[in-house]
Amino acid sequence: MLNIVLFGPPGSGKGTQSAKLVEKYGLLQLSTGDLLRAEIAEGTALGLKAKSLMDAGQLVPDEVVIGMISSKLENNPTAKGFIFDGFPRTVAQAEALDSLLAERNTKIAKMLALEVANAELIVRLLLRGKDSGRADDQNEEVVKDRIEVYNSKTLPVANYYKGQGKFVSINGVGEVDKIFKALCAQIDVAQI
Ligand code: AP5
Repeated sequence: MLNIVLFGPPGSGKGTQSAKLVEKYGLLQLSTGDLLRAEIAEGTALGLKAKSLMDAGQLVPDEVVIGMISSKLENNPTAKGFIFDGFPRTVAQAEALDSLLAERNTKIAKMLALEVANAELIVRLLLRGKDSGRADDQNEEVVKDRIEVYNSKTLPVANYYKGQGKFVSINGVGEVDKIFKALCAQIDVAQI
């Protein structure tokens, strides 16, 4: 089983690259952002609670997203492996993920971290906000708040994986295909 954490700030290209990695390696993408947006679209109680936090660029509570990931792992016992996109976002989530994977006799192989400067992130997200329908992409203050939340609460997760010797930094600026090749080179080494 091959499990990769695709890491990076909002707008760094996690979703874009995950789609390509899924196609190439046959892994299952688990995006907590997508799962939460599906709950909102279905109008569930969980979705209603998450919406105001997401629209404000704040994190949804750890137990909510850990529960979602736990049930996805439970429901996909034959998956070749997973790409975790937008999860874990706190050290508590990273610890919970390690436990969930250990229960299944597997683990994270690598954290691949897309590095993109703040100014570029803001341009990308506001551009997407023109037609994405995502409330959190439409207001520059909210976009900046998302980056601030990433810096304060999510960046420590990189240190968690650095401590395990699994952290790899990838330049996330430039052509999508070039970034994809850099990610593939790391995954190919992890698979050997
Ligand atoms: P989530 O859905 O995870 O959003 P995010 O992390 O803010 O990331 P994005 O989807 O905005 O960006 P991305 O890195 O995937 O980049 P993308 O490929 O889309 O989370 C949303 C919210 O849900 C959070 O704020 C939080 O409230 C909640 N949440 C989710 N997970 C949670 C968790 N674990 N714990 C607690 N709360 C959680 O690309 C962005 C744009 O850039 C696109 O338009 C794309 O076309 C463009 N682009 C991509 N690559 C390039 C490139 N190389 N050059 C130019 N443009 C590019």
